[in-house]
Amino acid sequence: MKRRKVTTTSLGAMKRRGEKITMITAYDATFARLLDDAGADILLVGDSLGMVICGEENTLSVTMDAMTYHCAAVSKGRKHALVVGDMPFLSFQISPEDALRNAGRLLSAGHAEAVKIEGGRSQAHTVRKLVGAGIPVMGHLGLTPQSVHQLGGFRTQGQQPDQASAILEDAKILEDSGCFSLVLECIPGDLAREVSQTLTIPTIGIGAGPACDGQVLVCYDMLGLNDSFRPKFLKQFALLADVVRSSTRAFIDEVRNGQFPGPEQTIESAATNGDSTRHRQSSYDITPLYGSVELGRQEELS
Ligand code: KIV
Repeated sequence: MKRRKVTTTSLGAMKRRGEKITMITAYDATFARLLDDAGADILLVGDSLGMVICGEENTLSVTMDAMTYHCAAVSKGRKHALVVGDMPFLSFQISPEDALRNAGRLLSAGHAEAVKIEGGRSQAHTVRKLVGAGIPVMGHLGLTPQSVHQLGGFRTQGQQPDQASAILEDAKILEDSGCFSLVLECIPGDLAREVSQTLTIPTIGIGAGPACDGQVLVCYDMLGLNDSFRPKFLKQFALLADVVRSSTRAFIDEVRNGQFPGPEQTIESAATNGDSTRHRQSSYDITPLYGSVELGRQEELS
C-alpha cells in the first residue's frame, strides 16, 4: 500500500480508527531516513539531544540554534513522517511572543511541521498564541524534563490522587487550547488510560503504559546504543552498542594486521587497468556506502 504523508490531522484520524501511533526521536538525516523507511509516523527532534548527543546530564543547556540545526537535518532525511521540533528550555517560558518567534524559527529554518512544549495550564496562553499563528503544538505532561530540578529528579509523576487530577485537568486545558496531541511521560498506566479516554486528541506515551494512543522512545535507547540506560519502561529492540563495538574492533584489527584495505578497496591507476582513452572517466561507484549517489569526474589527459 502506498504510504501517505503523515499530518497533524491524519494523526487525529488514526486515533478515531483505533490505530496506534509511533513516534521516535531523531537528530540527524541518516537516522531520519532509516526510521522513516521503517514506517515511523512521527520523528521527534527531542531536546533529549542534549543528553543523547551532547552527553549532558539534563536537557537544560539545549539552545534554539541546536534545535534548528537538528530539525533541518532530520527534515532532509524524512519522506512521510511528521517532524516535530522540541521547544528548548527558556525558548517559550518567557513570553508568548518569544515562543511564537522561536516556534516560527523551528518551522521556517528547521522545516519542522509542529512544535512540542512542556507544561500544563501555565502554557495554555502560549499554546493559543502559536495555534492562532498556524503552528501545530504537541503538549507534554507528567515527567517534564525541563523541570527536573523542581521535580527533584527524573521521577514518576501523578502517583498521588491530587497530582493525578492536576494532570487530567491540565490535559483537558491543553486540548481546549488547541494542542493536536499530547505526550504523557512516566505516569501510572491507569492515569494515562483515563487521560487518553477523556481526550479526543491522541496521547503518546513514554513510561505511561499501553492505553495511550501511541508510544514514543528515544531512538538511541530503543536501539540499545545507550546500553547503560535501562529504566523499567524501556525495551531495547536491538543491542547496537555491541554491534558498534565489535565492528570497530574488527576495523582496528584489520588495519593493524594489514588486511584492510585489500585489493577490492584499492583504486587502480589508468595504466594498470588498461584504459588508454584520451578522456578518462575517473569515477567510482560509492553506492554501497552512500546509497544511490555516484561521484564522477571527467579528466582531460594531456
Ligand atoms: O526530548 C525528548 O526526547 C522527549 C521525548 C522523550 C518525549 O521529550
